[in-house]
Amino acid sequence: MRFQVLTLFPEMVLSGLHTSILGRACEKGLLSVEAVNIRDFTKDRHKKVDDYPYGGGAGMLMQAQPVFDACQAALQKSGQARVVYVTPQGRVFHQELARELAQEKELIFLCGHYEGIDERVLEEVVTDFISIGDYVLTGGELAAMVMIDAISRMVPGVLSNGESGETESFHGNLLEYPQYTRPELWRGKKVPKVLLGGHHRKVDDWRLERSIERTKRFRPDLYEKYDLPGRALSYLKQNRLLHMDMLESIRRGLGEVLCVREDGVLVKDCATGVYMVTARHKDAGERLLSLADTGAGIFVCHQEFVAQSVAARFGKKECAACYQLSYTKKQPFTGDENGCSIRLLGESFTDTVFAHYHDLHTRSEIGKLLKDGALYGAFVEEGDTQVLAGFIGTHAEGGMGMLEVFPCYRRRGIGMALEKHLINRTLARGYTPYGHVFTDNPPSLALQEKMGLKASSALVYWVS
Ligand code: ADE
Repeated sequence: MRFQVLTLFPEMVLSGLHTSILGRACEKGLLSVEAVNIRDFTKDRHKKVDDYPYGGGAGMLMQAQPVFDACQAALQKSGQARVVYVTPQGRVFHQELARELAQEKELIFLCGHYEGIDERVLEEVVTDFISIGDYVLTGGELAAMVMIDAISRMVPGVLSNGESGETESFHGNLLEYPQYTRPELWRGKKVPKVLLGGHHRKVDDWRLERSIERTKRFRPDLYEKYDLPGRALSYLKQNRLLHMDMLESIRRGLGEVLCVREDGVLVKDCATGVYMVTARHKDAGERLLSLADTGAGIFVCHQEFVAQSVAARFGKKECAACYQLSYTKKQPFTGDENGCSIRLLGESFTDTVFAHYHDLHTRSEIGKLLKDGALYGAFVEEGDTQVLAGFIGTHAEGGMGMLEVFPCYRRRGIGMALEKHLINRTLARGYTPYGHVFTDNPPSLALQEKMGLKASSALVYWVS
């Protein structure tokens, strides 16, 4: 990997980065760190590279021309490289960004000095504005060196012990556990016993516990991101019936957990962008909602006060209250299909299904569900043909629904047969079947309860 650093202090950069582990990697040819002296490119006969800012103000600014020409010279060597301007005004550098930048073959760092650089050249050449933290240094060199160090150690071969990059702090959003070396006893302090026993599982468990403990204590912000699905599941299981949609979304890998707090969880369904929110109190709900996109479409709220917050914050007008019903038994239904035969519906049924079911889905959404094998149809014999009498499906977010039996086939148990079939299919995939039923649909609620589904004591609210 090649780094070129545009700077007024080449010796500072080169001496720092050609030392120790990075120095060795440069010698081996794994890395190349070059400094480009911006001053070499000035057209000023006194070698000046700075001038006063228009409009007044303290200090001097680096001029556009020498910076531009130095950058062009670097780009001539590296082709299409990203140009990183190190500045306290950039996004803050972190391990994930280091990992991302380590995928590049070439990087150019631009180091500012004085009070900054003429904005016009930044607009022309810079692809990334990155800061190393919320403090101001006298120049960009130290910041560039910090970033180059963090990026370089992810380049294969730079670290001699290939493993250490993975086990260190920030891997999986945890800080590193404490480490000890000889002697076993120092100033009255002993090395923890578990590390002396040679029992690898116990050592791993102890290290993980210490990592969690440290992260909670020193970096609660980081801990919030640790093992989001696992922590979300334990929160949601405190009220399984109310949260079955969120639990299943995580278990089935359909949703992404965006935040877990002591007082709430936010999940986003990947396919539809629907947000699912639960919170213990209004303030927790507000904090979770602040993480949702401003243009978000639909929210499933697990408390009425969250629904009110969504309506106010996102200007939503529609709010439909639903019972959440779950089939918590493990055994599938047995018995016949009440005189009909049930099978998967293909895309050729898009128009038929859409004609009967268009409240909640567009035609193309129906087409997509059919393509994904999410809808089953009940067929009855008429003469010597089989005709569709109704259907049922699984919504993209995982809930059962879309149950429809065409009027002339009602009161024959076809709805129940369809529902049993879908429950059995869902169980067979290792999932817990669940669905939402609007509170203004008592017959559907009655059917679900008759089939053994349990309703949550509180309602969920679809806000759109
Ligand atoms: N230049 C001056 N301060 C800086 C910072 N915090 N990050 C990156 N570059 C800088």
